[in-house]
Amino acid sequence: MRILLTGGSGLLGTEILKLGTELLAPKRKDLDIRDASAVAAYVADAAPDIILHAAAATNNRDIEADPTEALDVNIKGTANIARACLGTEIRLVYVSTDYVYKGDRGNYAETDELLPSNLYAWTKLAGEAAVRAVPNHLIIRTSFGASRFDYPQAFADKWSSKDYVDLIAPKILKATTGTARGVLNIGGPRRTIHDYAAKRNPDVKKARLSGSSLDSPVDTSLNLEKWESLDD
Ligand SMILES: NC(=O)c1ccc[n+]([C@@H]2O[C@H](COP(=O)([O-])OP(=O)(O)OC[C@H]3O[C@@H](n4cnc5c(N)ncnc54)[C@H](OP(=O)(O)O)[C@@H]3O)[C@@H](O)[C@H]2O)c1
Repeated sequence: MRILLTGGSGLLGTEILKLGTELLAPKRKDLDIRDASAVAAYVADAAPDIILHAAAATNNRDIEADPTEALDVNIKGTANIARACLGTEIRLVYVSTDYVYKGDRGNYAETDELLPSNLYAWTKLAGEAAVRAVPNHLIIRTSFGASRFDYPQAFADKWSSKDYVDLIAPKILKATTGTARGVLNIGGPRRTIHDYAAKRNPDVKKARLSGSSLDSPVDTSLNLEKWESLDD
């Protein structure tokens, strides 16, 4: 099975590449997804069975300051990838975010209402819309962080299903090569960011989101029943 990975130099892509499955992973200099004709030519030449599309502009603060790159990469770039799949049998797997959910109550199922909480997440949701044009698609909504938690403090009143990238990457690769279609939540247990952080950094101190100036959703935890019921 030929798998083409975009975003192979990123946090997730680096971890996926450690897993031993043979993947074609062009660097941005070899395949800039903003270039529609380059994407079409690359995909036609590589003829993959699956594209795992993980390339994105991800820095929320930079995106709020200047959304240009996020519009070009997350929306147009993803549409370029989706267009290259049209008329082929390619399975397109897209890595989206838990931040497309409203984020006020948690335990979100794949069919629940969407209301992105920041511009980055809106561009990821726009990418989801493009991916839906490909008949065999899988949109993975997830949340992950680096394998070490190096910050001194973490919120004790903000919940999610965030997990460490080395734990999430194998799940994403499994879903990629599996048969699930449509939308799929992937994550770890619902817990506070502090509980998540303390798993690998026992010295991390508690901070509070409430009362801070940060505008961030309080609970983006995921309902994982669909993931847990998969049998491939
Ligand atoms: N990190 C999270 O918490 C999180 C949560 C949910 C979903 N996601 C999604 O998961 C995916 C991977 O996230 P990540 O944290 O691993 O991201 P990351 O570390 O920021 O890496 C982004 C990757 O995209 C590549 N890229 C950016 N612009 C490109 C372009 N124009 N053409 C080709 N490649 C380009 C980067 O290449 P360069 O190295 O050359 O810049 C890099 O390999 C993204 O789709 C992200 O939206 C992330």
